[in-house]
Amino acid sequence: MRVLLTGGAGYIGSHTALVLLEHGHEVVVLDDFSNSSLEAVRRVEELSGKSVPVVEADLADRAASERALEDIEFDSVIHLAGLKSVGESVAQPTRYYRVNIDATLVLLDVLRERGITNFVFSSSATVYGVPQSVPIDEQHPVGDGITNPYGRSKFIIEEIIRDTQSAWPELGATLLRYFNPVGAHTSGRIGEDPSGIPNNLMPFIAQVAVGKRERLSVFGDTYATPDGTGVRDYIHVMDLAEGHVAALEHNRPGIAVYNLGSGTGSSVLEVVREFERASGQPVPFVIEAPRAGDVGEVVADPTLANTTLDWRTTRSLADACRDSWNWQSSNPEGYAG
Ligand code: UFG
Repeated sequence: MRVLLTGGAGYIGSHTALVLLEHGHEVVVLDDFSNSSLEAVRRVEELSGKSVPVVEADLADRAASERALEDIEFDSVIHLAGLKSVGESVAQPTRYYRVNIDATLVLLDVLRERGITNFVFSSSATVYGVPQSVPIDEQHPVGDGITNPYGRSKFIIEEIIRDTQSAWPELGATLLRYFNPVGAHTSGRIGEDPSGIPNNLMPFIAQVAVGKRERLSVFGDTYATPDGTGVRDYIHVMDLAEGHVAALEHNRPGIAVYNLGSGTGSSVLEVVREFERASGQPVPFVIEAPRAGDVGEVVADPTLANTTLDWRTTRSLADACRDSWNWQSSNPEGYAG
């Protein structure tokens, strides 16, 4: 396939591009580089030995995107482009809704105009809101109890895609609900390069281990979990990337929804310990108050993806810590270094 990969220069995008190329697909990256780097695409080219055309465009800008895509050939789309900071979305809700929703509307119109029916969307476990029970399968209710505009934009986009598919039955749309992506490619050449202070646990820990930050704040230790700290389903980004390729290759007319997670939960303190082991560096931490909107435990039931897509995670949290450390220690300043 010739895949248009929106957000292809970002963290998940760069790893997905690499796995697509390794599976014999061609990739065209579309990105506005607002939170990503051309260097990531160059390194994907270096790792794969293949060239990756890049279209620089803000998808939310309809006229500019239509112009930019005019001469670009593709037969399928993986749509990852979007803003993704939970905290920022609380402070800037209109920006989050506009950017994330407009980009998807423009893209869906382009697909329909061109008759491209193979579409995979990057959604999030955040659409489940506060879990009623764990592990969470795809039948779990969505939409209620989402605590931030970022998460709600993902839920709204899922609904928009469903409505679009109803009006256009040939469309095959797969919604991938990610749990917590972590880790990096084993080469240490591509990885997560957050701008500013990392919001997410593992990149923050990595920066503490490398000496860029003094200590980790652990947000709460009185949850109803074995050690009281928050439990999440961490999925290695290469497993996640392989999940995208499996979903794309399996896509058919209609709507399909899959959780992409490992099915195993790990607490904040377990991640700290695993990272210390992998890096050989201490990760000092202090316990602080719970973060607004956080929940105790979010773990996937990935059975549907395991059985239908013949996909499952093969990499452990220890692997993710090792790879994250390799990336962080060989690129302490990220792609800018
Ligand atoms: N945590 C800390 N200290 C930190 C950062 C995080 O203790 O500095 C804790 C959190 O409280 C939570 C766990 O580490 O218990 C994981 O937090 P992350 O911020 O890494 O991830 P979240 O589970 O909060 O959020 C992730 C994605 C969101 C997505 C959500 C869906 O980052 O984009 O999962 O469940 F919406």
